[in-house]
Amino acid sequence: MRAIVITRPGGPDVLQLRQVADPEPGEKEIRVRVIATAVNRADLLQRRGQYPAPAGALADVPGLEYSGIVHKVGRRVCRWRVGDRVMGLVPGGGYADFVVVHEREVLRVPRDMPIEQAAAIPEAFFTAYDALVTQAGLRPHDWVVIHAAASGVGTAAAQIASAMGARVAGTTRSAWKLARLGEVGVELPIDASLDFVVPVLEASNGHGADIILDLVGGGYLGWNVQLLAKKGRLLIVGLVAGNAAQLDMRATLSKRLRVIGTAMRSRSLDEKIAVVSAFERDVMPLFRAGTLRPVIDRVLPMYRVREAHHLVERNSTFGKIVLVWDPV
Ligand SMILES: NC(=O)c1ccc[n+]([C@@H]2O[C@H](COP(=O)([O-])OP(=O)(O)OC[C@H]3O[C@@H](n4cnc5c(N)ncnc54)[C@H](OP(=O)(O)O)[C@@H]3O)[C@@H](O)[C@H]2O)c1
Repeated sequence: MRAIVITRPGGPDVLQLRQVADPEPGEKEIRVRVIATAVNRADLLQRRGQYPAPAGALADVPGLEYSGIVHKVGRRVCRWRVGDRVMGLVPGGGYADFVVVHEREVLRVPRDMPIEQAAAIPEAFFTAYDALVTQAGLRPHDWVVIHAAASGVGTAAAQIASAMGARVAGTTRSAWKLARLGEVGVELPIDASLDFVVPVLEASNGHGADIILDLVGGGYLGWNVQLLAKKGRLLIVGLVAGNAAQLDMRATLSKRLRVIGTAMRSRSLDEKIAVVSAFERDVMPLFRAGTLRPVIDRVLPMYRVREAHHLVERNSTFGKIVLVWDPV
């Protein structure tokens, strides 16, 4: 099969189209012909040699998600048939013609959704839903602050929080992204290069944030703790601004805060199946109803994968970049 291979650690130029062996499904697995995948920050880190694939994943082929068509089913598969339209997560190897996955970590693509658009759903929306709802216990009317709200995960989180009746504030450092945040349900767009604490305190009448979904990390930590309301939850999801920060811990005690770190890629099969089941039950109906939609900056053919990595690296995207193998 065709695959985009990381030939050595480095910049986007190290990505090369190669032929690699087709994967074979086990008894409870399916093989999916990948129509589309999407770019994630983890792919960039892996390409630079800073985020090796977990055991069992193709070591040198990036890609954490896919949408495609079931191509072959294992002997004991009962949920899927050849030809079904599916999407899901993989621990690596998404930039390839085929992926092999357990039949229970797969979701059906909604009937009316173009299949390549579905590739923008799994990583962003699973991560956002699991963090906001399963882990942070989001409730209607909560104040939710999303850092880097114009990102793939951010645009998913803003839509989910807004659909659940939360009050949503979102930060970005880019003026053009600030102007677009309303499209995904952010009622309070905030310029992150200025202060983000005061605008949220003012808008919430001094209450602060019940939940902060932090996709940025670094020096945001101290401000986050200052902004959280009593019994607030800080979800640490991404560290694009760095992984070290200083913290005056007094407020974490006095406000009884919870700091929760999360990662999707390293979870066990059972944990992933639990995420997919909750998502299928609670979130897929919102896609079918048109309440939620994948936010796609652009769709590029796979041969332009290096350009896609450049665009993400330069922070020039709103939502996700989808890569398609062949024109759909
Ligand atoms: N824990 C998990 O399971 C999990 C899953 C998926 C993603 N993630 C992480 O979540 C984060 C977002 O992922 P994504 O794919 O949604 O990202 P993305 O679409 O590539 O967007 C990231 C955005 O972060 C902002 N940013 C970059 N550097 C920054 C800095 N130094 N300070 C402040 N903002 C900065 C930029 O937007 P502006 O224009 O606003 O600056 C950039 O466009 C990444 O760190 C990713 O690794 C974690």
